[in-house]
Amino acid sequence: MRVVNCVGFGPPDKLAPEERPDLAVLPEHVLIDVHACGVSFVDTLIIQGRYQIRPEPPFVPGSETAGVVSAVGKGVDDYAVGDRVIGMSLLNGFADQALLRPAQIRSLPAGLSFEQAAGFVQSYCTAYFSLHRRADLREGETVLVLGAAGGVGLASIDVAKAMGARVIAAASSPEKLDACRRQGADELIDYTKEDLKLRAKALSGGGVDVVVDPVGDAFAEPALRAIAPGGRYLVIGFAGGEIPTVRWNLILLKQCQVIGVDWGGWSAKHHDENDRLFEEVGEWVSEGRLSPLAPATFPLEEAPRALRELMGRRIVGKAVLVTR
Ligand SMILES: NC(=O)c1ccc[n+]([C@@H]2O[C@H](COP(=O)([O-])OP(=O)(O)OC[C@H]3O[C@@H](n4cnc5c(N)ncnc54)[C@H](OP(=O)(O)O)[C@@H]3O)[C@@H](O)[C@H]2O)c1
Repeated sequence: MRVVNCVGFGPPDKLAPEERPDLAVLPEHVLIDVHACGVSFVDTLIIQGRYQIRPEPPFVPGSETAGVVSAVGKGVDDYAVGDRVIGMSLLNGFADQALLRPAQIRSLPAGLSFEQAAGFVQSYCTAYFSLHRRADLREGETVLVLGAAGGVGLASIDVAKAMGARVIAAASSPEKLDACRRQGADELIDYTKEDLKLRAKALSGGGVDVVVDPVGDAFAEPALRAIAPGGRYLVIGFAGGEIPTVRWNLILLKQCQVIGVDWGGWSAKHHDENDRLFEEVGEWVSEGRLSPLAPATFPLEEAPRALRELMGRRIVGKAVLVTR
């Protein structure tokens, strides 16, 4: 089998492709021939030792895979050889084989390619959990999405549009904004050139109902200032680098809610509810209500380049490694 190994914490150049003996299936496990592996922002943190969980190098990064079941171990009834599946694990994703427990696997929703599926679970479950479960988004409301051409961002546009909202997408380049438009965004803001607060207020007729914020940093305060009275601000991540501090008087004056979102933490403690959430998202895909854009693809061996591009804000949408 082929893997991409992280031999020491540091920049993506520390990753090295490696040949290993093929994996064999174990009892209570499922063996998967991986076709595509998602590259996520979390992977960029893990390889640098900057994530809350610090595995000891050497380790194989990668948390999302999509492929075909090649063998099932004793005691596994839910999956059979030939099933198209998605795999989820914190590590070992950058490889052309994966050995996972059934609880780490989901059936691949009809209508998704392996490439789309490998970048799907984290971004779409986070977007759906945020907007559907946490913000209780209503039809006709206006949503401002920051980092809107990133994984969580594009998924949030897709989910918000499927829920009948009006979406204002904010991103850093014309190419990224074009992807937001293709994903369904109604209005676009280049927040590196335009005043985020003024434009979002103007485009929403005075204030947005919901902010989706996976970026933080310097964009958080103008986004909070663009919120309508009684709005909801979803704190999802800090891809911009700095964890922002806000003046609480803004929250008081807006009478808004600031809502923390940690889909990963929630799903680890709410297995049944998370299974239901995934089923709902999968149904929306199969019914055509959600349609993820095709990701940027790289050969497995080029994982370091994919990670560098992601860290340099040059990826539009998701980045995915393909193995065959
Ligand atoms: N809370 C949760 O449950 C949850 C779940 C998944 C992910 N997250 C977090 O959400 C954040 C975004 O994840 P993602 O998968 O959407 O990542 P992504 O695909 O890399 O997108 C992040 C976006 O942030 C923007 N950005 C601004 N400054 C950046 C910088 N210095 N470096 C990189 N990107 C920068 C970029 O858009 P522009 O260039 O247009 O500004 C980029 O498209 C991460 O912090 C991740 O850990 C949280």
